[in-house]
Amino acid sequence: MSTPGFKRKVNRHCARFWWAHLLVVCSSILIISLCLVYVAVPNIAQSGINDSSFEVSDLKFINPAPNSINLTQIATLYSPSRFTPTLDPFSAGLWLVTNKTYGTAPFVYLDLPQIHVLHPKSNVTSENQVVPLLNTNEITDYVIAMLTQENVTIALTGTTKLHEGKLPVISINYNSTTTYKGLNGLKGFNATDLKFNPSAPTGTPNLVGNAFIPNPSIITVHLGNVTLILSTAKYGVVGNATINDLTLYPGDNNVLMSSIVDQTKVVESMDASSGIVTVEILGNSSVYNGKHIPYYEKALSRTALSLDINLKQVLADRSKASM
Ligand SMILES: *[C@@H]1O[C@H](CO)[C@@H](O)[C@H](O)[C@H]1NC(C)=O
Ligand SMILES: *[C@@H]1O[C@H](CO)[C@@H](O)[C@H](O)[C@H]1NC(C)=O
Ligand SMILES: *[C@@H]1O[C@H](CO)[C@@H](O)[C@H](O)[C@H]1NC(C)=O
Ligand SMILES: *[C@@H]1O[C@H](CO)[C@@H](O)[C@H](O)[C@H]1NC(C)=O
Ligand SMILES: *[C@@H]1O[C@H](CO)[C@@H](O)[C@H](O)[C@H]1NC(C)=O
Ligand SMILES: *[C@@H]1O[C@H](CO)[C@@H](O)[C@H](O)[C@H]1NC(C)=O
Ligand SMILES: *[C@@H]1O[C@H](CO)[C@@H](O)[C@H](O)[C@H]1NC(C)=O
Ligand SMILES: *[C@@H]1O[C@H](CO)[C@@H](O)[C@H](O)[C@H]1NC(C)=O
Ligand SMILES: *[C@@H]1O[C@H](CO)[C@@H](O)[C@H](O)[C@H]1NC(C)=O
Ligand SMILES: *[C@@H]1O[C@H](CO)[C@@H](O)[C@H](O)[C@H]1NC(C)=O
Repeated sequence: MSTPGFKRKVNRHCARFWWAHLLVVCSSILIISLCLVYVAVPNIAQSGINDSSFEVSDLKFINPAPNSINLTQIATLYSPSRFTPTLDPFSAGLWLVTNKTYGTAPFVYLDLPQIHVLHPKSNVTSENQVVPLLNTNEITDYVIAMLTQENVTIALTGTTKLHEGKLPVISINYNSTTTYKGLNGLKGFNATDLKFNPSAPTGTPNLVGNAFIPNPSIITVHLGNVTLILSTAKYGVVGNATINDLTLYPGDNNVLMSSIVDQTKVVESMDASSGIVTVEILGNSSVYNGKHIPYYEKALSRTALSLDINLKQVLADRSKASM
């Protein structure tokens, strides 16, 4: 129950301590604003980053050297958030992810430019960057995955600063995965238009033809001068093949393959009834500008291809041609 005396007391208190009340109100507003700006907004910004995803549309690995490579990666960043902040340039780690497990280190670090994140999507382009290959095991594992798997998952991680209007700069972490197609073990590899020349001088190619190499991925890759080892079940190694300046582009690739084979062993490995000889092909070396490229050699030596050569047909074509 309030008495007139109490009311007067309250009024007098308010009149005398109005500044204290104002201070409390202002402080509350300030604390709420600060919480919004320094706690809620960074959380909203980070959660916007967390909700984003990316998709790689172009990938080029060119001019390989044992310890560096010229790399291009063009990606689309999808952002469901209505915010359109700007991210500072940052060094992004690219990791191979196998069965949801990250590799032990990134296979490369790629410098990403400043990104203006647009809704719903924006481009993130990093072109012709010569990146050092510090983690030999990681780049080898990545190349093996690219060559042998149907799908390859990678992660892109990094820390950068986000700018949005007049808000304070916000530090954010990026850690997102994407999946693209690999070369799937070069499934569909074939050799066509094979020409056999038994009178070729020793040490020069006696079996040449077109190697058909499908590349279902988005990658363009310089593999250099590639040599392959040819074997049959009956004799083991029967020769080798060379593909000079092998560059795989996305889609179907047709390249000249020159082989030096032991004719006797190849003919004797032929299945007499079908006229077919099954040749196992294993990568042996990749040399670019005179240097062995170990991460390609390791990956190629794990990619076994099996080729059924209709030798009867090849021999028949030859005698027809020489008639
Ligand atoms: C963003 O994702 C990271 C890792 O998944 C998580 O630890 C963090 O809490 C997320 N942040 C927000 C604001 O959603
Ligand atoms: C990934 O997991 C699948 C199924 O569990 C397994 O068959 C496959 O070998 C694993 N791959 C690697 C590279 O560990
Ligand atoms: C993204 O790149 C593609 C192709 O390079 C181009 O057509 C498109 O306009 C670019 N988009 C933006 C938002 O820069
Ligand atoms: C990377 O490759 C591109 C395309 O061939 C070339 O134009 C560029 O000069 C190369 N960059 C470096 C630094 O070697
Ligand atoms: C690769 O991805 C495609 C498309 O997402 C899917 O259909 C296919 O089953 C995947 N293959 C493997 C081996 O996971
Ligand atoms: C990225 O996230 C994955 C799983 O969410 C985690 O295992 C990994 O440690 C994170 N990496 C970095 C560099 O943040
Ligand atoms: C390879 O090419 C030959 C000749 O064109 C064809 O007869 C054969 O079916 C092809 N093999 C495969 C596995 O595609
Ligand atoms: C391929 O075989 C020939 C004949 O045996 C040999 O002289 C040559 O050195 C071999 N080439 C490679 C790259 O192994
Ligand atoms: C593969 O190439 C290496 C050189 O890079 C050579 O020493 C080795 O003998 C080759 N292997 C076979 C089986 O020819
Ligand atoms: C491949 O070998 C040829 C002949 O030896 C050479 O001229 C060429 O430069 C080599 N290519 C590469 C990419 O090293």
